[in-house]
Amino acid sequence: MKINKNYLNLKPSYLFKNIAEKTAQYKEAHPDADIIKMGIGDVTLPICKAAADAMTDAAKEMGNIDTFHGYPSSYGEDFLLSAISNHYKKHIGIDIDENEIIVTCGAKEDVANILDIFDTDTTVLIPDPVYPVYLDTNIMTGRKIKFINATEENAYLPLPTDADAADLIYICSPNNPTGAAYTREQLKVWVDFAIKNNAVILYDAAYEMFISDSECPRSIFEIDGARQCAIELCSFSKTAGFTGVRCGYTVIPTELESDGVKLLDLWKRRQSTKFNGVSYVVQRAAAAAFSDEGYKQLCENINYYRRNTENMTKTFDKIGIKYFGGKNSPYVWLKCPNGMKSWDFFDLLLDKCNIIGTPGAGFGENGEGFFRLSGFGDNTRCVEALERIEKMNF
Ligand code: MLT
Repeated sequence: MKINKNYLNLKPSYLFKNIAEKTAQYKEAHPDADIIKMGIGDVTLPICKAAADAMTDAAKEMGNIDTFHGYPSSYGEDFLLSAISNHYKKHIGIDIDENEIIVTCGAKEDVANILDIFDTDTTVLIPDPVYPVYLDTNIMTGRKIKFINATEENAYLPLPTDADAADLIYICSPNNPTGAAYTREQLKVWVDFAIKNNAVILYDAAYEMFISDSECPRSIFEIDGARQCAIELCSFSKTAGFTGVRCGYTVIPTELESDGVKLLDLWKRRQSTKFNGVSYVVQRAAAAAFSDEGYKQLCENINYYRRNTENMTKTFDKIGIKYFGGKNSPYVWLKCPNGMKSWDFFDLLLDKCNIIGTPGAGFGENGEGFFRLSGFGDNTRCVEALERIEKMNF
């Protein structure tokens, strides 16, 4: 028996697991510490009432012989495909056919699973810093990885040059971890670059609902040409609070082809073989989240989290800490004060303020010296955390 040796090239522990372990150790040593968690981007508000009610009703249907459902469709039930297509039309202003949408368990899973349909002998372009899943899943499959530098100088929105040519390109906008969001004009540069290089863009739009600037697109399919070169991966986690429920969707335009083969057909083939679909109860909840009433409730929740990032950016402006993000994103990416390294700042913040954040170095070399705070927490606790930081007089 031979193992997949690519796994030996991974860092021993996944970033957020590492942080959870460090937090648990600290808590054990300091049981009275009043820890405020601003690390992993996990939501704290419950799923919206429309979704929770739909889930309850669907659970009742499942417990009744007349309304019970067995295996769901591997691609998503019609009622949810229609709700997602309607979301694109009504809130983003673009036409996405129901047939081009595949319902899944979430964007994290899709970002990894989509690699199945591409040759392993491909080069992947990944930004640094980056959501670790893009990097780790490509290391696991042994692909050639190239990095594109996202830095303070390019405001964490790098644009490609000829040297960045690759087969697969990961873009996350609004970005995790930096919170930066591409404008339409900038994304058009990426789309033209992908078409010129016969590359596919894997576009992670998990944070699309946080966009408030009208010049920043919520979907890559708002950009001319994207239907020839992009796949969009999206999620109900950050929009509808489904981190513990698990539901997402992938959009592959029918015209996206490689070597005369439609990528949509390959992905559907993959899903029908390896996946038995998202549970009926969850799909009903997701569809309700995108109903008119549900969407209103999602917007209220997003506005709640926005208050956290607004308070963070106001405080950092006041105390002179440089930051990125926070405007179109639930994340604020700050420069560690006094030139500190990010894990040192993590320890300091934990020890002196009892605050957990995410060290930038965990997202790549360019993250060193930076730190990510999540806006997904409770409003009052966030204010308290900021008061503790202010008192530190960095
Ligand atoms: C994060 O904190 O980066 C995210 O919550 C992780 C995820 O979405 O898997």
